[in-house]
Amino acid sequence: HIPPEIRCALDYETQAPRFIAAPTLAYIEGGSGHDRSVVANRAAYARWAITPRLLRDVSAGNTGVTLAGMNMAHPLMLGPVAFHNLVHPGGERETVRAAAAMDCPVIASTQSSCTLEQLAQSAGPQRWFQMYLQPQRADTLDLLRRAEAAGYGAIVLTLDAPIQVASLRTLAAQFQLPPQCVPVNLAGYTAAQEPAVAAGASRILQGLMAAAPSWDELRWLVGQTRLPVWAKGVMHADDALALRAAGVAGIIVSNHGGRSLDGAPATLDVLPAIRAALGTDMPIVFDGGIRSGSDVFKALALGADAVAIGRLQLYALAVAGALGVAHMLKLLREELEICMALAGCASIEDIRATALFHQRDHHV
Ligand code: FNR
Repeated sequence: HIPPEIRCALDYETQAPRFIAAPTLAYIEGGSGHDRSVVANRAAYARWAITPRLLRDVSAGNTGVTLAGMNMAHPLMLGPVAFHNLVHPGGERETVRAAAAMDCPVIASTQSSCTLEQLAQSAGPQRWFQMYLQPQRADTLDLLRRAEAAGYGAIVLTLDAPIQVASLRTLAAQFQLPPQCVPVNLAGYTAAQEPAVAAGASRILQGLMAAAPSWDELRWLVGQTRLPVWAKGVMHADDALALRAAGVAGIIVSNHGGRSLDGAPATLDVLPAIRAALGTDMPIVFDGGIRSGSDVFKALALGADAVAIGRLQLYALAVAGALGVAHMLKLLREELEICMALAGCASIEDIRATALFHQRDHHV
């Protein structure tokens, strides 16, 4: 059941500590390093207010959007988040059931606790598959072919985490992934090795980054599939333009929820420049710090076509399983509709930057 304390989507985060053990929560909540970008993502929303508008007719309004040809009842997606069985024994299957009930597309993580084939079996929502370029091309290709065969509608290539950056909170909490959290999708593939480097060479630059993906690898992957390939982790307009030139179908503006480069700007702050550079013909999905319908409204106003939910889905899953995830999505959608109604926006298209009021000093 849903605890009576849950009255808004953000309450799932507030209540999460009652349902998730402290070290696990540190792993989920924490960003890389000092959490600077986790904090930045959230703080950015507070610098924008939404201007109320009067006497507008929204009686024919709705939250529908078309994203790269996909019709969506609302602009919410569930983003790729590893190992849902960390917080619920039903894992991703539970989440996907909720998404199906709420017409919410799902981006399944490569690092899920059941295989991509198992996840594709249950009847349900539109599904995209998130992957990383694997150390061996043959493994990348195998993963791609499996996702195609299982019927996923798009490939989301995450590009912003070529090296893993430790979370200081996770280290302090001495968190270790429990034995049931294994990347079953990658069984049999070659894992990344830390190569030995010559004396005086950098363990990071000549070592770990030696096997990092390149533009050539990206172009190769795009050429291997008829599925649309989206690039996740875009934070600069020039990268967005180069990705479009490389044949990418859409981009996900993201800083990995503050889990990669500690000190990366807030995703909301870089979104307008990326939208301005791309114009209107390239779809943008946005993530980072979304905890309420007004956050969704602000991201849409600043250039996103849809948004992806990260941590909030794990919190809702921990609190009340599939019911919690469905309820969280329902709350987010209603909160968005309230903003639309009071700001006089009858459609998602009506939500533009002119609906926002930038405040340098005052925080809401
Ligand atoms: C992630 N994220 C992520 N991204 C990805 O491309 N593949 C993955 O496997 C994961 N795994 C993952 C695990 C956990 C515990 C978290 C918190 C995040 C990043 C995720 O897709 C998204 O970019 C952020 O979570 C968005 O920020 P919010 O909504 O969590 O603030």
